[in-house]
Amino acid sequence: MEVLIHKLPSFQISSPSCCCSITTRSSKYVQFGFRRLSSSLSVRASSVNEGVAGPVIAPSSLGHVIRPDFPILHQEVNGSKLVYLDNAATSQKPTLVLKALQNYYEAYNSNVHRGIHFLSAKATDEYEMARRKVAAFINASDSREIVFTRNATEAINLVAYSWGLSNLKPDDEITLTVAEHHSAIVPWQLVAQKVGAVLKFVDLNEDETPDIDKLRQMISRKTKMVVVHHVSNMLGSVLPIKDIAHWAHDVGAKLLVDACQSVPHMLVDVQSLNVDFLVASSHKMCGPTGIGFLYGKSDLLQAMPPFLGGGEMISDVYLDHSTYAEPPSRSG
Ligand SMILES: Cc1ncc(COP(=O)(O)O)c(C=O)c1O
Repeated sequence: MEVLIHKLPSFQISSPSCCCSITTRSSKYVQFGFRRLSSSLSVRASSVNEGVAGPVIAPSSLGHVIRPDFPILHQEVNGSKLVYLDNAATSQKPTLVLKALQNYYEAYNSNVHRGIHFLSAKATDEYEMARRKVAAFINASDSREIVFTRNATEAINLVAYSWGLSNLKPDDEITLTVAEHHSAIVPWQLVAQKVGAVLKFVDLNEDETPDIDKLRQMISRKTKMVVVHHVSNMLGSVLPIKDIAHWAHDVGAKLLVDACQSVPHMLVDVQSLNVDFLVASSHKMCGPTGIGFLYGKSDLLQAMPPFLGGGEMISDVYLDHSTYAEPPSRSG
């Protein structure tokens, strides 16, 4: 079976007036399902440029359509319009998102799942609606498969500490590529140290994509967890997740996919990819900083012990009265 690794397209400046033509290294690249916004823009762009070979994005398309939505870009830096290209690190926030945040604080700021008054009920409804939207966005079968976290880093730590500490034994192997973000490496290093598990790293090919054949060879009966990116923040490589899931499951291992760089740009369908865990982060997809999510298959999440206690876990409070100290007497 031939397995393809794709690289994201490079953009060439084709004229000083800033028109960009999209070049791809592989024609198969076009098989990716991009989200509706980008496809409608490229359709518009190619109709603007009829007769020109290849899809050329006119300056009146991408930037001009989207720019007004981002207040932070309405400023000059060093005498020029601000141009921001560091979206892989964090994206800027459109007015719609900023207004939604302001509306929350102005209209229904209160505790989610921890109050019975009007504001709390409204905040809880909105929170659960957001969970359903995220589930639909990645085609999870149930919104209970979405766990909100502070960011992708916390989501990976959740799996490493909760699933890892209860499932890994000495000499079990965790397989990763050297191109993983440190947020996807360090939690597994820490947990591996605790349980005596071993981290195995797959190197890069000459074309600076992870050596996927090596990855396949490395996955063995000793492998208990495979951790890979969907799209690399460093290399632009797009890994064949469906195949990797197949290889991992064949030996009884689980697969965690770091989808921080894919979920904002591509159609990601967790059921079709058949991943066990997948993480992404709001701040890289035009949402607020301070929230990310973990997707996990229901049966796996159900079997995992809590990573953090407190918060919404009021119904889980259990006081063992035999060890509950009497409050000190006030007399004297
Ligand atoms: C591929 C990848 N994984 C994980 C992270 C960490 O994400 P977060 O900031 O949500 O913890 C990043 C952020 O740069 C990333 O690019």
